Amino acid sequence: MKKIVGRHVVFGALTVLAGFAVTAHADVVGNAKAGQAKVAMCIGCHGIPDYRTAYPEVYHVPILGGQNAQYIMNALHGYKKGDRHFETMHAIAASLTEQDIADIAAYYASQTVTSKNNPEK
Ligand code: HEC
Repeated sequence: MKKIVGRHVVFGALTVLAGFAVTAHADVVGNAKAGQAKVAMCIGCHGIPDYRTAYPEVYHVPILGGQNAQYIMNALHGYKKGDRHFETMHAIAASLTEQDIADIAAYYASQTVTSKNNPEK
């Protein structure tokens, strides 16, 4: 009985996390507009002119705007799974849902490096 209740709570929490996702299946379709609302925490690093972070060490931060969506998704999955190592990006990627990753990838892919509204993030 206790177990069943616990599962319900977890499922409920996941449903909330999935937000407006229509489906939470393997074929997650990215939505650039939804992605725009999810990159707020990325801007701090990926939006710094000259793309460097001072923590944990001075490090070149790659530009994401205009990057291929599949490439971004692969990178985030890599960090999430630990195939690709970078402490902060692992922590961030691990907090993202599949839908988040797809949306963020779609958002960045819809930008170009030189597009006017590209805050270079
Ligand atoms: C604390 C600073 C910081 C924050 C916040 C941050 N990143 Fe990163 N990100 C980095 C650094 C530094 C790298 C390069 C790490 C490496 O070489 O593996 C990186 C790498 C990446 C890459 C791989 C790019 C490439 O060309 O290989 C992607 C994709 C990425 N970040 C997406 C995001 C997204 C999406 C967010 C927000 C949800 C985010 N990052 C937030 C610092 C940050």
